[in-house]
Amino acid sequence: MQSKNLKILLIDDIEDVRQVIQLCIETEVDAEIYEASSVSEAKDKLETYKSFDLIISDQNMPGGLGSDFAAYLKEVNNQTPFVVCTSDPIESIEFFNENPPFFYIQKPGISDGIEELFEKYKSSPANPPGDYLKGEVEYISSQHVRISIKSLLNFKKCPSDIFINVGQSKLIKVLNEGDNFDESDFEKYLNKSIQYLLIDKNAIKDFIRNTEREILDRLKNTANEPNDMGAVHTLLTTTWTEYGIPKSTQKLTDLAIKQSINTLKKNPKLGSFLKSIFDSGQSYLQIRATVTSSIACWLAQRMGWKSDITYYKLTMAGFMHDYYLEKIEIFTLEDINKVKGKKPSQIGAKLLDQYISHIYEAAKIAQTFTEIPPEIDKIILEHHEKPDGSGMPRGIMHSQISPLGAVFALSGEITDYLCKLKDEQREYDYDEIVEFLLSNGYDLGVSKKLIRAFKEFDINFP
Ligand SMILES: [Fe+2]
Repeated sequence: MQSKNLKILLIDDIEDVRQVIQLCIETEVDAEIYEASSVSEAKDKLETYKSFDLIISDQNMPGGLGSDFAAYLKEVNNQTPFVVCTSDPIESIEFFNENPPFFYIQKPGISDGIEELFEKYKSSPANPPGDYLKGEVEYISSQHVRISIKSLLNFKKCPSDIFINVGQSKLIKVLNEGDNFDESDFEKYLNKSIQYLLIDKNAIKDFIRNTEREILDRLKNTANEPNDMGAVHTLLTTTWTEYGIPKSTQKLTDLAIKQSINTLKKNPKLGSFLKSIFDSGQSYLQIRATVTSSIACWLAQRMGWKSDITYYKLTMAGFMHDYYLEKIEIFTLEDINKVKGKKPSQIGAKLLDQYISHIYEAAKIAQTFTEIPPEIDKIILEHHEKPDGSGMPRGIMHSQISPLGAVFALSGEITDYLCKLKDEQREYDYDEIVEFLLSNGYDLGVSKKLIRAFKEFDINFP
């Protein structure tokens, strides 16, 4: 029988927290969970999916509070039951004093909170018990709850022994606690149309509590870092405005940039590099990271490559591609200009060697991240390649350059041209940029299409 899933909008800026909440929800009900990491993303999801059965939201998020979103829902007369999940005491949030939410979960305590939430939801006269309670998996013992294969993939390692229900009140253990659960395991179960496995109820509750505690400890430790997101956001917005990046593109890129910053912060080498980028204000590397990423995301979207993961790859490359320039002598813009736009044969051997090293070193460090998509090192490796084969370091032709590599390299050239126009205090001139690109090796393959698409990019140089 087809079960009616609950449609839940889950808003929290921290991915790990969303995973924990998701895991708790799926042990209780059949649900389709739509995730958002900010209020603006939540509004987009609401616009796209029209209605939800339940909204669960964090309170403190960069760019907007959970209570701001609740106020917006009130304004548009959306009466979806609203759940606040925050470490703040509910009494301290003014809006909720006047407008009590459907339910309040105080962190830490997500696991018990979600259980109580659904007790209330199920018993509420407005939400009569429905098919969503049945689940696709029959419970054969009160000791076990289900866990989706998607969650197992998120956690990578099994939090406890995992079982499968083979009927006739029989459970078979299929995975041990700590076993890896990767894409191939995920595919294996998906091919057998198995979306849920079973896990010991107490073990998963303990696991959730521990994970929640770890996340909170980590947050406490990073709360005082100098690169707080508020300051970073101000700097990003300033650079976007100065380089005339349209608001819609800022919005498109904002989340991916923040995700990239969060990933980079965790890396011991790049964490300090990131700090130096932002601490030095509007540096060349910060402009490359912000402007190049934004143009690249916009171009990718225009080419129909619209996924969040694509934007994430391009912004990660945006931050990392010139990382090593700081380490070598030719770090000034003047030095870079000595090298850029010239054929390798026109550059002195020592300078060329140093310059090429920044490409390989940055690609190498991208490879050390095990948790990021593998294509990012490829984009970095190709960020000075040109479609006509005159680029560096390998001088490969357009047919050998990856599509995202081409998008990124072209976006870097455009950014540099915008920097040049700024330096010379000149106005934005699309035709001039196009002429430069076409006569500098980009008149081929996907790059030619990208240049045509770029015409629609609504740059507004102040
Ligand atoms: Fe570079």
